[in-house]
Amino acid sequence: MNKYELLHHDCTKWMESRAENSIHAIVTDPPFGLIEYTGKHLEKMRVGRGGVWRLPPVLDGCERKPLPRFTVLSEAELTNIRDFFEVWGKLALRILVPGAHLFIASNPPLTPFLSIGLISAGFERRGEIIRLIRTLRGGDRPKLAEHEYQDISVIPRSCYEPWGLFRKPISEKRVSQNLKRWKTGGLRRTPDSKPFPDVLKSEFPLKEEVNIAPHPSLKPQRFLRQIVWTSLPLSEGIVLDPFMGSGSTIAAAEALGYKSIGIEIDNEFYKMAKTAVPRLMKIRAEWESFETANNKHKLPSLHQATNLIPKKTRKNRKKGRNSSS
Ligand SMILES: C[S@@+](CC[C@H](N)C(=O)[O-])C[C@H]1O[C@@H](n2cnc3c(N)ncnc32)[C@H](O)[C@@H]1O
Repeated sequence: MNKYELLHHDCTKWMESRAENSIHAIVTDPPFGLIEYTGKHLEKMRVGRGGVWRLPPVLDGCERKPLPRFTVLSEAELTNIRDFFEVWGKLALRILVPGAHLFIASNPPLTPFLSIGLISAGFERRGEIIRLIRTLRGGDRPKLAEHEYQDISVIPRSCYEPWGLFRKPISEKRVSQNLKRWKTGGLRRTPDSKPFPDVLKSEFPLKEEVNIAPHPSLKPQRFLRQIVWTSLPLSEGIVLDPFMGSGSTIAAAEALGYKSIGIEIDNEFYKMAKTAVPRLMKIRAEWESFETANNKHKLPSLHQATNLIPKKTRKNRKKGRNSSS
């Protein structure tokens, strides 16, 4: 029996009608520039005419995927991002249980606008997960003067993707009480019981994943399974991805045995998710964080991880170590 539900919907409408306090985590990769996934720009991307989608040149005989260019956004569009995430954040807060976490993909120049919107909505900002990934963003020489200014790049070459980490404030006095009442408030430790780190090594999705789900913003299973893993501290409750694209978050949740709901507004991407989720969830993905990268001891795959720590040991772990709210 599947533990997931996929919906073809506008997430804002769906969130308005969802019961309050009924979701335990949100893990999502939104259209953070807001305009790149609108009909007009998607149409341009699909016919290869650009718009906000930069069409990188063919390099070394390899055709690169289109990338959205966020540096072209105007001041008004940036203010719009902040306003959108304030409204969206209020909808999210209503349906999340107290202490639930929101993991939200972003982009270095846009993070402040998205964060201010979410904080104004009422979220606590708890930090940021850094996904170490070298993309094609940034590092370009000045446009139309590439030869004159050969030794200059306009912005740095991007080597990371920030994922904002937010929490709906807890309703109880202590995290332990919140965990008891709502099953939320903290983060699940790694399979070998280390604190979840805020830097994760990553890579582009495997070729196999891209073949299954050719979405322009596909995220790799290995990375997503780590984020989804930690999002439910007691592995109980429902994970929501309101901007699911090809359903990669939902596949990660299903692979871990978590309940999840994915929402997608675009019919082509929704159909892609329906076929991709059952296949993506079968991809093998090993745990690999920045902290464990140099360890000789290799952690087991996430398929086996649930059984790694005996339940009793987890429950009996000494209280009071590194306690915080
Ligand atoms: C950045 S992509 C997510 C891709 C996803 N990470 C993956 O691996 O496939 C954002 C998705 O949100 C969808 N979207 C945009 N606005 C939406 C809305 N209001 N409700 C639901 N989905 C929406 C877009 O069509 C797009 O597929």
